[in-house]
Order: sequence, then C-alpha cells, then structure tokens
Amino acid sequence: VVSLLADGPLRGVKAVVTAGPTREPLDPVRFLTNRSSGKQGYAVAAALRDRGAQVTLISGPTTLPTPPGVTRVDVETAADMLQASMQACADAQLFVAAAAVADYRAAAIADSKIKKHNAELTLALARTDDVLATVRQAYPALFVVGFAAETDDLETHARGKLQRKGLDLIAANWVGQGRAFDQDDNSLQLFWDGGQHAIGHASKAAVAAELADVIVARRAKKL
Ligand code: CTP
Ligand code: CA
Repeated sequence: VVSLLADGPLRGVKAVVTAGPTREPLDPVRFLTNRSSGKQGYAVAAALRDRGAQVTLISGPTTLPTPPGVTRVDVETAADMLQASMQACADAQLFVAAAAVADYRAAAIADSKIKKHNAELTLALARTDDVLATVRQAYPALFVVGFAAETDDLETHARGKLQRKGLDLIAANWVGQGRAFDQDDNSLQLFWDGGQHAIGHASKAAVAAELADVIVARRAKKL
C-alpha cells in the first residue's frame, strides 16, 4: 500500500529506467541478444516508485510482470530503446540505464532465413548507438545513472564509463561465472566523481532500495 502512494523524496520527479536485454534481428527467425533477466532494472523502477517518483520503465523482452504503478514501454532493439528513451526523458529529471543493450546489430537484416549452405558463416555487424551516452548529451540537466557489467578491473572500467559518458553515478557489478545473471541476489559498487559506496550482497529489491537512497542523496547534493 505504501509503495503506491506518490510521496517521498522523489515526489514530483519523473524517472525513466531502462531494463532487460535488447534483441537485434539477424533474419526473420534469429536474433542477437545479451544475457539479462531484467530483474535488477525492474527492482530499481519499483524502488524509485516507492520514493515517490513517476516512473517509466523502458523494457527489452523479459518475462517479468510490470511493477504496479509503473508505466511500461516495451521495446525490442537498441534503436527502439534509444527512441523510447529520448522521448520519455524529454520531461524527466532522472534516468537510470540498467538495460543490457546489445553493442552490435546485424549490418543488414536478411529478408529471408539464412540457410546453412556453408560449414562457416561470418556475420557483418555494426555498432548500435549508445542509449545512455546519447540521452546524457541530449539532456544535460538530467541526473543520469549508468550501470557497468564487468568481468575484470571493475573500478577502472566503471570510472572510465562514468567520465566518458558524463554520468552522475555508475553502478558496477561483477558478471560471468554465474554471478548476477538470472539470480535473485546481486551486489553493486557505486562510483561518482570523488566518491564511492559498496552495496553488499542482498536481494535485487534490497540492492535497488539502497541504490535509490544513494541516488536521492547524490541528486540532493547536485540540486
Ligand atoms: N548502454 C546503452 N546503450 C548501449 C550500450 C550500453 O545505453 N548501446 C548502457 C548500459 O545500459 C549501461 C552502460 O551503458 O548503463 C554501460 O554498459 P556496458 O555494456 O557495461 O558498457 P559499454 O559502454 O557498452 O562498454 P563495453 O560493453 O565495451 O564494456
Ligand atoms: Ca556493452
């Protein structure tokens, strides 16, 4: 009941959250995607809602139910996610990019099913646009939070993304070897210019709640 009341430190704030994977078609029956259940992003959307924000959740394909009180926009490709995010962020104050966006798409989508003519197949891929970096550039006043999934050198890679993409905060997590993906638990290392905060291993809901509290505190410092 409490979670549906639009009260709390983010009352009056419009927040946009991306979550889940994207799906990049290769031909009519196949696609490239990323490993992501969407659970952490959905939990972030719910945590921001619980703090009073009006939340739009831009979601790649997942099997998760829409958090009550959250407006969900379903997308498939990185290009769709960019378009939906740019539109939703036009009147927003907070953007959290939790989606596992595909970095590459097919250079050309085949009109008919690719047949197994040869023993080897080489796919030509093209980089997708970076949703987070593009939204940041378009909306300089927005408070922008990125995620970073890393298999090594977590802080170096995460701080590099924080700087390069001009973020206010980045939430980094270790991935691979069964960590984070499709699990109900997670842990995060948060970094911002001049500070950091570790969120210890807990349910994705608890991790999202702690992240939302840090967002509230960092945003208050910036306002
Ligand atoms: N991201 C995005 N659009 C993309 C790729 C990534 O919005 N095309 C966002 C993710 O949602 C995440 C952040 O950028 O918030 C970092 O994603 P990550 O994959 O860790 O970093 P990349 O910048 O894509 O670099 P790399 O995959 O090479 O580590
Ligand atoms: Ca990436």
